[in-house]
Amino acid sequence: MKTTLSIIKADIGSIGGHIMPSKKLIKRVIEYVESEGKKLVTDFFVSHTGDDIAILFAHTNGVGYEQLHKLAWDAFIAGTEVAKKQGLYGAGQDLLKDSFSGNVKGMGPAVAEMEFEERPNEPFVMFAADKTDPGAYNLPLYLMFCDPMYNSGLILSPNMAKGFRFVIMDVAHTEGDKVIELNAPEELYDIAALLRDNERYVVESVWSRETGEIAAVACTSRLHNIAGKYTGKDDPVMLVRCQGPFPATGEVLAPFNLGHYVAGFMRGSHTGPLMPVKMNSSVSFFDGPPVVSAMGFCVHEQKLTEAADCFDHPYWDYIRNNVSRKATEIRQQGFSGAAMLPYSELEYGGIVKKMEKLEPKFKVRG
Ligand code: 13P
Ligand code: 13P
Ligand code: MG
Ligand code: MG
Repeated sequence: MKTTLSIIKADIGSIGGHIMPSKKLIKRVIEYVESEGKKLVTDFFVSHTGDDIAILFAHTNGVGYEQLHKLAWDAFIAGTEVAKKQGLYGAGQDLLKDSFSGNVKGMGPAVAEMEFEERPNEPFVMFAADKTDPGAYNLPLYLMFCDPMYNSGLILSPNMAKGFRFVIMDVAHTEGDKVIELNAPEELYDIAALLRDNERYVVESVWSRETGEIAAVACTSRLHNIAGKYTGKDDPVMLVRCQGPFPATGEVLAPFNLGHYVAGFMRGSHTGPLMPVKMNSSVSFFDGPPVVSAMGFCVHEQKLTEAADCFDHPYWDYIRNNVSRKATEIRQQGFSGAAMLPYSELEYGGIVKKMEKLEPKFKVRG
C-alpha cells in the first residue's frame, strides 16, 4: 500500500500582528483533526512557523484527495472561529474562498503532497517558511540536488549518479499549470536560468533519475494570483525525502546555511535573508526576517515518529547570527533599490493607488 504525505498550511490568525498563532487556536486545529480525521488519516503533526499553521498528514488516499483537503479546510475554519473569538489579527487570513470546492489548492492554503512506496526506513524532512514565497526554495533545491559543493553524495554515493529531474512551474501563468521538465546535470544551466527568477519560476517537484521516485515536492501557489490583491505572502511548505537515492538529511539542510536573500519580510514587499529557525518560532524584526523551519521524521506503515527539530542545534545559532547581520545590513537602506521588491511584485498592494494619483501630476517638457 502506498503512503501519502500531505502538508496543508494556512495563516488563520495571529497574536500581536503577524507574529504567531495563539495556543488556543493551535489546540482547536489539533482537536478538530483528531476528532474528524480518524477514518481518513493514519497520523498527523501540527506545528507553526511564524503565523502559519502547518498540518502534516500521513495517509493512504493519494495526493489531491478531496476529503483530506476538506478536513484541513474545516480544521482551519474551526481554528478561525477561535481566532475571531480571541480577536486575533488576520483571523482566517488565508481562507480566500467562502466555501470549500474540492481541493484547497487555489483557495489560499499552501499544499505540498507526495505519494510513494515506503522504503523499510523512510526519513524525510518537512520545511515550513514564513514571510516569504515559494521561490525561496529554488536555490536550496538546486544546491541540494545538483551541486556537489553541497551534496557530497553526488560524488560519493552510487545511488545518485544519474542525477535528478526537476519539474518547474511558470507561476505567472494563471490559466492552468504551465510546467517544464529538465534533467540535472545535463541541463543544469537551463535549470539555473529559470530558478534565477524566484518570483516567476518555482520548483514544483524533484525526481530521482536512478529510481524514478519522487524526491521532493514544494508548494507553488501565489496568493496574489488567487486574490488579485495583496493578502499576505505565500509562506511555502516543502517535503524532501532523505538518504539512499536521495541526499542525506545533512545535505538537504546544508544550503540553508546561506541565509540567501528572498522576497517577503515586512508587508511581503521587501528583500530579506532566510533564517533557519527552530520549530514553532515566531517572527520579530521588521515582521521577519523571513524564516524557515525543518522537521525531520521517519514514516513507517503510515505512522510518523516524533519530529526531530533540525535547526535546533548550536551550529545554527552561529548561522542565525550571520543572518541577523545580513538582515540588519539590507534594512539600513530602507525602501531603496534592492531592499524593497520591484513594482511588479508590489502592484497587488496599496502603492498602485499612489502611483495612479501621481501619474497625472507628471509633465512632459516641450
Ligand atoms: P551511515 O553510516 O549511518 O549510513 O551514514 C551515512 C550518511 O549518509 C551520513 O551522511
Ligand atoms: P503573513 O503573510 O505572514 O501573514 O505576513 C503578512 C505581512 O504583511 C507581514 O508584514
Ligand atoms: Mg499573517
Ligand atoms: Mg505568514
